[in-house]
Amino acid sequence: MTTAPMPAFPAGFRWGVATSAYQIEGGASADGRGPSIWDTFARTPGRIADGSSGDVACDHYHRHREDVTLLADLGVSAYRFSVAWPRVRPGGTGAANPAGLDFYERLVDDLLAAGIDPVATLYHWDLPQPLEDAGGWLNRDTAERFAEYADLVAARLGDRVKLWITFNEPFIHMSLGYGTGEHAPGHALLMDALPVAHHQLLGHGLAVAALRARGAGPVAITNHYSPVVPAGDTAADRAAQRAYHALHNRLFTDPLFGRGYPPGFESPVLRDGDLDVIAAPLDLLGVNYYNPTGIRAAPPDAPLPFEIVDLTGYPRTACDWPVVPDGLRTVLTWLHAEYGDALPPVQVTESGCAYDDEPDADGRVHDPERIAYLDGHLRAVRAALDAGVDITGYFVWSLLDNWEWAEGFDKRFGLVHVDYDTQARTPKSSYAWFRDLIAADRP
Ligand code: NOJ
Repeated sequence: MTTAPMPAFPAGFRWGVATSAYQIEGGASADGRGPSIWDTFARTPGRIADGSSGDVACDHYHRHREDVTLLADLGVSAYRFSVAWPRVRPGGTGAANPAGLDFYERLVDDLLAAGIDPVATLYHWDLPQPLEDAGGWLNRDTAERFAEYADLVAARLGDRVKLWITFNEPFIHMSLGYGTGEHAPGHALLMDALPVAHHQLLGHGLAVAALRARGAGPVAITNHYSPVVPAGDTAADRAAQRAYHALHNRLFTDPLFGRGYPPGFESPVLRDGDLDVIAAPLDLLGVNYYNPTGIRAAPPDAPLPFEIVDLTGYPRTACDWPVVPDGLRTVLTWLHAEYGDALPPVQVTESGCAYDDEPDADGRVHDPERIAYLDGHLRAVRAALDAGVDITGYFVWSLLDNWEWAEGFDKRFGLVHVDYDTQARTPKSSYAWFRDLIAADRP
């Protein structure tokens, strides 16, 4: 880590941290919440590394006041959380559950009282199970149901949420949830998962319209971006690199900016008018970045035209992901070069890392690797700003250690350590580092 002082960020830059509902809330059956695909998946033997579920997680549903105090002490100007669709409309269709909306209203009001902008993600992968039973995101109707749910949330909170994010990482949800089956709902359809892309994007466009009709805004979507690095210099590796780049980085971005689907990924379920719905103007693009992806050509008889390979020569996080801060600059400058004037301002809506952080004999949690990780990634954001990209915020994933999907509780991403036996929260040294950085930038 360089010892050079962190360069300044533009005036009004938004400093935040992010979480998601199923990963922190617990309260799985509290106050009328219904089951989601993740409740079902976590109960299926062999799906979650440590056999756990998000039934209790960080018990944030019952401890949100304590967590808002942690946010206030950190000094963030924004907090990105997600609304659980199965709390707000447990059946996915039919009656709303006012008690679910009450929870988010309490959270939003507490954030506002603490001077923190509430940033709400409407879909962070927790589809109500009854909708999965009807086909999930393979079924076009789910897009309509999503817009109805967006309307319900906006009717209650449209006057107070400071940024709406329709979807979180629809590419990851499609590829792991429906392509490989590593995530809920656990389908391994490979390229037959492609309709899930279109139905999520359609749901996004319909939700943008629903939010605008309620006067709610600004509105964004958050995508996962990864520079794609060919493993070799053969024509086949370069073709595989282009194909994977189109799938990972362009499939969910080209249609937002009026370009339709990238060649090779045309949607089999497209209907007239859909692309106009999807290309509804956005106020902001959310960028999540973790690491680049190494790709090589697959053998001719393989089910997919590319294979993911490890990128060697980098330090690694506890998830075994390579630490490549410059990859964040790469994706930000690529978005700017690729989409030009069509690209709205960008906020980095997730950036972070897992390490095996445990309290020392004094009960303190030291995580110098996370500090170095965040320092490097913020310098990469600064470099992208210097290259002309309009970046207006940065959110660390995550406020708290939490339930890391198929990895369970083993992977700790928080600025705050959570003891899952006692629910004790212990700010790590990275929390103090980030607090001081924010304070220096927002004196
Ligand atoms: C992105 C996802 O949005 C979040 O839910 C997840 O915990 C982090 N990546 C880390 O894998």
